[in-house]
Amino acid sequence: MMKPLKVNKARLWDSLMEMAKIGATEKGGCCRLALTDLDRQARDLYIQWAKEAGCSIRIDAVGNIMATRPGEDMSLAPVGTGSHLDTQPTGGKFDGVFGVLSGLEVVRSLNDHGIKTRHPVEISVWTNEEGSRFAPAMMGSGVVSGRFTLQEILDKTDVDGIRLGDELERIGYAGDTPVTGREYHAFFETHIEQGPYLEAEDKVIGVVTGGQGQRWYDVELTGQESHAGTTPMHLRTDALTCASSLILAVQAIAQQHKPGCGTVGFMQVMPNSRNTIPGKINLSVDLRHPDDAQLSAMDAELTKTVERLVAETGVQIHLKPIWYYAPIPFDKNCIEAVRGSAADLGYSHMDIIAGAGHDACYVSDFAPTSMVFTPCLNGISHNEIESTTAEECEAGCSVLLNAMLRMAEVVSADTDREEETLVLHRVGEL
Ligand code: GLV
Ligand code: MN
Ligand code: MN
Repeated sequence: MMKPLKVNKARLWDSLMEMAKIGATEKGGCCRLALTDLDRQARDLYIQWAKEAGCSIRIDAVGNIMATRPGEDMSLAPVGTGSHLDTQPTGGKFDGVFGVLSGLEVVRSLNDHGIKTRHPVEISVWTNEEGSRFAPAMMGSGVVSGRFTLQEILDKTDVDGIRLGDELERIGYAGDTPVTGREYHAFFETHIEQGPYLEAEDKVIGVVTGGQGQRWYDVELTGQESHAGTTPMHLRTDALTCASSLILAVQAIAQQHKPGCGTVGFMQVMPNSRNTIPGKINLSVDLRHPDDAQLSAMDAELTKTVERLVAETGVQIHLKPIWYYAPIPFDKNCIEAVRGSAADLGYSHMDIIAGAGHDACYVSDFAPTSMVFTPCLNGISHNEIESTTAEECEAGCSVLLNAMLRMAEVVSADTDREEETLVLHRVGEL
């Protein structure tokens, strides 16, 4: 019985560990915010590796990097993969990076085995997936999919007022490839699950059938600054106290809409002085749900809560929706390619919905798409202690390789390796 091809576990792991040195944090994670010098270093290293693997490089106007391994028929749309190199401020070593470097490992493995494909293979590094420094998230893929205009994204600013387009120029990644007209024959993204379900079910692979929807808001609360020692409690308009009620309401709304999530993760308190009653608060709200009707209900309840708090406290609240996308179902054939490849490789697997946002969600607007999930220790992610194993990475990347080969159509391979590599992937077979 012939076995499907596996990737090189040690090489993939070594590359992950090498990349993790860029922006390494004391607790073992990474801080590589989008379009900082550290993001540039990571991009530079990745491009060096991709070139060494024989890929040609293009960079588009929003800074997405496309590395292409030629196919036999260059008029065909590529089979794509990829993810992101930017991280959260206290991020881990794997969120996003695993998806990029597993794409690179696919190319390296194809090279090892002399495999020629009919379709080109393309790895994308998408700009600012995290949405931490510049909100919202998934900007690079969102511009390519047409969810955002290029100009609106270039004009986004970070908390210090620095413009995204200026940072892109500064780090040398404002490219000349147009963001329009991108095509994929199929697209797959590997990612750590970032949640607890694969581990709880003792499964090696998550076959991702779609992503839950999201709504993000910027909220500004305006009360009145006043003296902490002289202003009687009944005469205060305390913006922070009101913000506290809002935060608890966000939590309650999510709890009432299981399995929805609600998070306030960013807050600025002004003037942030211990003996002045806070007069102004900026905060973020992040609502998510796999069902769009439920997500809309959560949105309506948030609006009602804001109206109630304004009436009860006298604090002015400006609730500004800044991002919305409905839950995204992935493509049946791509899902089947992931499921079938996991089965061929003998990995236990289960279907799963992505709780996090992923570039694959926006790519699925214009290309058949699915994702491959692998477990992460205790389901912890967006944390420096985010952890997975070389074996888990090998499994996810091997599923990626075989799913891509199903779509890219093998034309030929080194004859002495053919038996072990080409099991089910003859031209056109699913
Ligand atoms: C990105 O990591 C997100 O899901 O917020
Ligand atoms: Mn990610
Ligand atoms: Mn993330």
